Order: sequence, then structure tokens, then C-alpha cells
Amino acid sequence: MLTLDKLTKHFKSVKAVQEVSFTVEKGELFGLLGANGAGKTTTLRMLATMLTPTGGTATIEGIDLIKQPDKVRNHVGLLFGGDTGLYERLTARENIVYFAKLCGKSEEEARGRAEALGQAFAFTEYLDFQAKKLSKGTRQKVAIARSIVHDPSVMLFDEPLVGLDVTSRKDVEDFMLMLKEKGKTIVLSDHNLNVTERLCDRIGILHKGELVAIGTLEELCKKHECANLEEVFFKLAGRDTE
Ligand SMILES: Nc1ncnc2c1ncn2[C@@H]1O[C@H](COP(=O)(O)OP(=O)(O)O)[C@@H](O)[C@H]1O
Ligand SMILES: [Mg+2]
Repeated sequence: MLTLDKLTKHFKSVKAVQEVSFTVEKGELFGLLGANGAGKTTTLRMLATMLTPTGGTATIEGIDLIKQPDKVRNHVGLLFGGDTGLYERLTARENIVYFAKLCGKSEEEARGRAEALGQAFAFTEYLDFQAKKLSKGTRQKVAIARSIVHDPSVMLFDEPLVGLDVTSRKDVEDFMLMLKEKGKTIVLSDHNLNVTERLCDRIGILHKGELVAIGTLEELCKKHECANLEEVFFKLAGRDTE
């Protein structure tokens, strides 16, 4: 379970994230929807302990992000779309092992995880290829494997479908739904209305760092008297008017 409590990040005068509060339950896929610059990535980076909040906090499995970031880190995985952030010169296996060790696994455990994940995502034959030599789809699979190498209970996805072909998109979508089945707590940040509408149990709309709406698709449409998510989005966050 994940709870944000007035989570805030200001970069000097830029209020990137402003007192955002919501809870995501175990087994729930929560969609964070917002235009470019709305504050989605900043929110996820704070939850993954890569950025320190300037205000508020969040708890992950009851552990406070501000007080115990090292402990929180063991329970969170973050997957970025687009640039997968793999080390190009390292092999797929080395990338996974390196990350597993960062998360406190022994060499032996780390190697075991790399092998198991290679099998689970069908890239065993590419485990010893350098990351830069892999196809886009395989890179994405390795990035996925790396993000869950420590078996986190909370998974964060930041626009994970960007730049993927249809088959790889389906793989990533199926992967998110599989994690949901397994009872993980999932946040999917995207600016794509269709993806959010199709996959998410509940949706939060971020606009200029603020959470301007939250609920199921049905609740959002009813509350804002709209026929679909697109209408809700444009009503609350679509136009860049002050
Ligand atoms: N490291 C940073 N320094 C200064 N401003 C930043 C930094 N990171 C993000 N921002 C600003 O914070 C706002 C939110 O950005 P971001 O979280 O990346 O939005 P999104 O992921 O929704 O597109 C934007 O105005 C962006 O320019
Ligand atoms: Mg972003």
C-alpha cells in the first residue's frame, strides 16, 4: 500500500508537485494522468527515493519516505519508458546483477534472479549481449526485469509505453496486469487518455503540480458531468489557462 501525504517538490520558484495526497491499495492499478510538465515524473521520482521532497511525505507499506528512505527503496520499483537507463556497455545479465546487488542481494542471489527473470521474460539467449546490441523490445524486457529484481511490492511506471512497437506495448501492459493479479500496488503515470482509461482502476489528474481530481472513471464522469475521460481531462487540465 502507498499513501502520499501532501507530497511537495519545489524547484526554486517552480511548484512541480504541490501538496499531493492519495492512497493506492494493494492489487490496485492507479493512473496518474497529466500533460507534459504536470509533475508526474517528479512525483514518481520522490516515491522511488531518487528525489527528496521539499514538503509532506509518503509511506510505502507503512514506512515513511522521509524517515527511512533506505528501507522504502527495498519495496519500490520504478520503470521509465523511452530511455531505459541500462548501462550500454554492460551485458543484460550484468545490468540485472548490478541492480540486484545495489538492492542488497548477494552475488549468488543476484545471479539467480538474472537467470530466473531471463526465463520469465524470454530473453535468456540475450543475457550475455551488451545492452547496446539488444533490440528495443528486448531492452525493454531487460529494463522491466531490472525494475523488479528485488521483488518490490509497489511498482511505479513512468510513461512505460513510449516509443514501443505494438508487440512490446502489449508485453508491458500484460506485465502490469500480471503484477496487479499478484497483488502489487501499482502507479501508472501517463499522458495518454486511452491507456489510462483502459488499464486503471482509479485515476488522479495532475495539473501544474496539483491533484485536481481523483476517482474511478465512472465517479470522475459523474462528478464533472462529462461523457468520458477526455472531457473530464480537458475540463480540468486541458487548457493552459491561468
Ligand atoms: N530538476 C529539475 N529542476 C528544475 N525544474 C524541474 C526539474 N525537474 C522537473 N522540473 C519542472 O517541474 C515541472 C514538472 O516536471 P515533471 O515532473 O517532469 O512533469 P511530467 O513528468 O508530468 O511531464 C516542470 O515544470 C519541469 O520543468
Ligand atoms: Mg514525465
